[in-house]
Amino acid sequence: MKIFNSRQAVHNYLNELRASGNSIGFVPTMGALHAGHLSLIKLARQKSDVIVCSIFVNPTQFNDKKDLENYPRPVEDDIRKLEEVKCDVLFIPGVAEMYNSTEKWNIELGNLDKILEGKIRPGHYQGVTQIVKKLFDTINPHYAFFGQKDYQQFMVISYMVKKLRVKIKLVLCPIIRESDGLAMSSRNIYLSPPDRKNALALYKALSKVVELYKTKTIAQIIKEVNSFLKSAPGIELEYFEIFNAKSFEAVTSKRSASLIALVAAKVGSIRIIDNMILK
Ligand code: PAJ
Repeated sequence: MKIFNSRQAVHNYLNELRASGNSIGFVPTMGALHAGHLSLIKLARQKSDVIVCSIFVNPTQFNDKKDLENYPRPVEDDIRKLEEVKCDVLFIPGVAEMYNSTEKWNIELGNLDKILEGKIRPGHYQGVTQIVKKLFDTINPHYAFFGQKDYQQFMVISYMVKKLRVKIKLVLCPIIRESDGLAMSSRNIYLSPPDRKNALALYKALSKVVELYKTKTIAQIIKEVNSFLKSAPGIELEYFEIFNAKSFEAVTSKRSASLIALVAAKVGSIRIIDNMILK
């Protein structure tokens, strides 16, 4: 695997590969890689000739300074994992390589940065779009792969790509879970053993939605699952919603063509998000 720290160097290297007819698949990450990230690399392999992964803990998308400081950075392990899945190129810049102190970014994101994660984490999606646009400009891939785990992030990036007419095909990849159902996340390592058990309530709630969906109305499902989550031990519920997966608006009936249930909660001091596509 080739490793680059410089934007210019990786850009030039990939430009040559692109010019000689290779398709480029890109997987942006913040590192602390787990099987969820690696599944994106494997899917990228199926669609593209050259796989590029980036690792950059992006300061502008953290609204909590402590969270940024504590974010895990096991770089040696990450490199080993990427080599195992035969990633071709790793781009791992420092903060000064990606940002200068005077720059500003403000993109209109419709309602997407005002609801759910956008509401709870003000400025988060501005930071995400700011770095993803820079990474897209640097790597210039044909395809970019994102996890359904962060479904709202995928919607936000899709919105940006359309708005700025970026010529990259975005690919949504399934959520990879632990054997008991907990969605994999770089922050899971910070869950204490009791919190790790309590965190399972999110997956249980989403599984309950799928079960209830067969017989109950949306209003009934929301009521039942909300009360399940509110009484789950060790969980501080932030939101549970059923949305139209395309328009990303709350639904009141099952008639929408596509539906997704989304949940976020604090388990101890760790925020956990999860979701499930119903149809
Ligand atoms: P990060 O949280 O490292 O996630 C990188 C990618 O891995 C995202 O597309 C995310 O949805 C996906 N991912 C995380 N957990 C997953 C799981 N359990 N199953 C499948 N995919 C999973 O998301 C970010 O980084 C950043 O916001 C980034 C896009 C890199 C911009 O800084």
